[in-house]
Amino acid sequence: MKIGIGNDHAAFELKNTIKAYLESQGHEVVDYGSYSAERCDYPVFGEKVALAVRSGEVERGVLICGTGVGISIAANKVRGIRAAVCSEPFTAQMVRRHNDAQIIAFGARVVGVDMAKMIVDSFLGAEFEGGRHQNRIDLIAAIEERER
Ligand code: RB5
Repeated sequence: MKIGIGNDHAAFELKNTIKAYLESQGHEVVDYGSYSAERCDYPVFGEKVALAVRSGEVERGVLICGTGVGISIAANKVRGIRAAVCSEPFTAQMVRRHNDAQIIAFGARVVGVDMAKMIVDSFLGAEFEGGRHQNRIDLIAAIEERER
């Protein structure tokens, strides 16, 4: 799968570890930065990955900052994007199955390396179930339309 990854300074190290892990699993990873541990602003990278997902440049996104929250909030401002913060694999699987989230986010200051690997595995291994869940996704899209 082609996956876009993005991070801020708090997550530079974990981003590199997860990027290498995903590549070792056979995924193609596009790195949207940041490219160093120098202080930077997470909205920049949340937006880059979200736009890449929305355009189809990549199929899924992985976003990492200190908590996963700021970078996911930024990504969710891109119309049509559903980015979910997860700290464990159960939720990471359910956000695909029920919420059709295209982007997973987590915090480098929250989860360890092994947990982060389990989170991405669960997320990438699950598919949207559709059905009644699609109606709810449509209702979320309707909110975006009203907010235009
Ligand atoms: C950076 O210090 C930190 O605020 C950021 O990585 C993230 O946790 C924000 O949500």
